Amino acid sequence: MFCLHLTVFLLVHFAHCDENITIQYYKQLIQVGSVRALSYNLSQRNVEFEKGAASDKLHDYPKKFDVVIIGAGTAGAVVATRLSENPKLRIAVIEAGGEESDFSKIPNMAFNLQFSDMNWGYYSTPQKNCCLGMNNQQCMVPSGKVLGGNSAIDFGIYRRSSRVRYNEWAVKGWTYFDDLYYYKKSENEQIRGDYLYHKKGGVLNVEYGKPDSPLQPLVLKANEELHVPNIDYNGIRSVGVGKPQLNIKHGQKQSTNTAFLDYARSRDNVEVLTHAFATKIIINESNKTAQGVVFVKNDKKYKIVATKEVIVSAGTINSAQLLMLSGIGPRDHLKEHKIKVLQDLPVGKTLKDKTFLPIIVRTNTSLHNQGDLDTVVKQYLRGYGPLVKPLYTDLLEFIHADGTPEDAPTFQILMVPPPRTQAALLPRVFNYNQTVTQTFLKSINTETDFALDVINLCSKSSGSVKLKSSNPIDHPKIDLNYFSDPRDVEVFLKAVKFVNEQLVKTKAFREIGASLQTTGLCTNYEKGSDERNECVIRALATSAYEFTGTTAMGEDPKTSVVDKNAQVHGMMGLRVVDAGIFSKCVSGRADTIMAAEKISDIIKQKYSDLH
Ligand SMILES: Cc1cc2nc3c(=O)[nH]c(=O)nc-3n(C[C@H](O)[C@H](O)[C@H](O)COP(=O)(O)OP(=O)(O)OC[C@H]3O[C@@H](n4cnc5c(N)ncnc54)[C@H](O)[C@@H]3O)c2cc1C
Ligand SMILES: *[C@@H]1O[C@H](CO)[C@@H](O)[C@H](O)[C@H]1NC(C)=O
Ligand SMILES: *[C@@H]1O[C@H](CO)[C@@H](O)[C@H](O)[C@H]1NC(C)=O
Ligand SMILES: *[C@@H]1O[C@H](CO)[C@@H](O)[C@H](O)[C@H]1NC(C)=O
Ligand SMILES: *[C@@H]1O[C@H](CO)[C@@H](O)[C@H](O)[C@H]1NC(C)=O
Ligand SMILES: *[C@@H]1O[C@H](CO)[C@@H](O)[C@H](O)[C@H]1NC(C)=O
Ligand SMILES: *[C@@H]1O[C@H](CO)[C@@H](O)[C@H](O)[C@H]1NC(C)=O
Repeated sequence: MFCLHLTVFLLVHFAHCDENITIQYYKQLIQVGSVRALSYNLSQRNVEFEKGAASDKLHDYPKKFDVVIIGAGTAGAVVATRLSENPKLRIAVIEAGGEESDFSKIPNMAFNLQFSDMNWGYYSTPQKNCCLGMNNQQCMVPSGKVLGGNSAIDFGIYRRSSRVRYNEWAVKGWTYFDDLYYYKKSENEQIRGDYLYHKKGGVLNVEYGKPDSPLQPLVLKANEELHVPNIDYNGIRSVGVGKPQLNIKHGQKQSTNTAFLDYARSRDNVEVLTHAFATKIIINESNKTAQGVVFVKNDKKYKIVATKEVIVSAGTINSAQLLMLSGIGPRDHLKEHKIKVLQDLPVGKTLKDKTFLPIIVRTNTSLHNQGDLDTVVKQYLRGYGPLVKPLYTDLLEFIHADGTPEDAPTFQILMVPPPRTQAALLPRVFNYNQTVTQTFLKSINTETDFALDVINLCSKSSGSVKLKSSNPIDHPKIDLNYFSDPRDVEVFLKAVKFVNEQLVKTKAFREIGASLQTTGLCTNYEKGSDERNECVIRALATSAYEFTGTTAMGEDPKTSVVDKNAQVHGMMGLRVVDAGIFSKCVSGRADTIMAAEKISDIIKQKYSDLH
């Protein structure tokens, strides 16, 4: 094993480690991982921790800490790493998941991880306005349960919010141009992006996946015809088309665990507890101060003391659940579950997400030019090839439609050349029902069809996260409520029109005989009509996996949960630092890492006299 791990990085230098062994190892990882994902059953409760949570005995954790962080996810791993730069601060991190694996770091294998113990396994509640093509009208809500959290199971596409959208969200104390410093702080760019917007020398690589697909120049040509500029979408302009900027290093995905926490774990003042599940924040009711955390590990229940702060970084879904279980949330809802109300705040309200709609373009040309598993594994070990590209995504396009500020894209298009990743897994990943699987998925030609998947970058609708019960072992109730605001349907209608009436009509696309492929659904409406398209949108649109808003940042405790320093309103020694603090249209791994960097600086300054 020692040899295998080293060969990944040092193939050339370790001549005595047989490259063929490494290739065999990765081929097997991919084969086993892909097959397992097809039959892995997600548990609908946190059964792993059930026994410990039910135990009556509360053990004192033998060490005391200044700061206890709940969740070593995208944000938590960054906060732990930055705070531990002060050697006097003693930090504990409680993470429910375990280590990442060689398999999980392969960018193109991301979908498989949703059917593994690295996912909490959430589904939405049955929906009325959306997810209509899914089994029981429930969309998947994947959520990372592993060191690195979502950043370990996501696609690793590095995209910052546009300046306009950022400033629409920004509460007092936050502005795009000031906070650009925190986007850049960890960056090690390899893309020759716009000057002043990027930086070299940080721990997080920003790279392009190589090589480009044969489809890429064609789509770029089509966009040129439409005067859509080629841009660095994390730079000066945010409307245009550009190659995906990826957080990869030597071809492997960089989670915030691999980029940050891996280094910090060797420091004496950091203790990372894995397979440890926080069930409650301990709060002194007389002065509303967080003093520690109750967690479960190895079937035992522990109390761990935080003398300065508890930082909740459990993610948009779980942070909301944990706060409510601890008595912080909407009064009526907590009373419903007989939880004593310590602080009445709108936790779990206004769950926001970006939404995703697959669009298939049919051509008369074979666009599939990928080698066999042997070949792609060899390429991967040298840091390039299709395994390096999440879902093979080869271009990102950001289009502005009427009614939004010019500099702010309305929707994003992901250009995905064939073959579509793991066709057999897609019904599971999207929870498609029998009809959708048989009519829509089965009609896709994996040689000649490619996808222009659309993401609505700024949904107006919002949903909620609520408790199913006061038992931490139960999953929370996640109501997505997409398309409750009809303007969100409009965005997709505009996107379909853009693809169908503009992109597909370009000379470049006509040359490959491109046309929009129908889904075979909603055939009781007239072909090509808005009514048919709306029906398809409500059936097929699903999550783009960027959940926010359940612990929103703001000044008013009626409409927000944390203040500009991420402190929970009305509480002492308690912060929430994760994507849940965003609202409106800021979200995603880059934004989350930025916020974690900024709040870490605020916390570090507070304790800077501790030297
Ligand atoms: C499949 C997928 C693909 C995505 N692709 C992209 C992309 O390409 N680009 C992009 O910008 N964004 C992407 N995103 C979104 C992005 O990953 C998230 O917005 C972001 O990482 C959120 O980070 P977070 O810190 O809020 O939460 P997380 O990263 O989810 O961290 C929460 C951590 O807390 C732990 N935890 C939770 N509850 C407890 C508990 N009670 N006790 C102990 N530990 C607990 C979890 O196990 C987890 O490790 C994707 C998301 C998914 C799911
Ligand atoms: C590796 O495998 C290939 C074919 O699978 C073979 O031709 C080659 O000789 C092997 N190399 C070594 C060093 O064993
Ligand atoms: C998952 O559940 C199905 C249906 O209950 C069952 O047939 C299958 O064997 C299960 N898979 C695993 C890996 O346990
Ligand atoms: C699947 O969803 C579609 C779209 O809502 C619906 O028309 C169809 O009846 C559903 N099929 C099954 C088997 O539930
Ligand atoms: C809670 O805080 C009050 C006021 O500071 C203090 O007197 C009391 O001892 C604290 N309780 C616990 C359990 O620490
Ligand atoms: C609350 O009480 C605890 C326990 O006495 C103490 O450690 C803490 O400093 C107090 N917090 C505030 C804000 O006074
Ligand atoms: C694809 O269709 C276009 C437009 O009809 C045509 O010009 C082109 O020759 C076709 N290509 C192939 C390979 O059939």
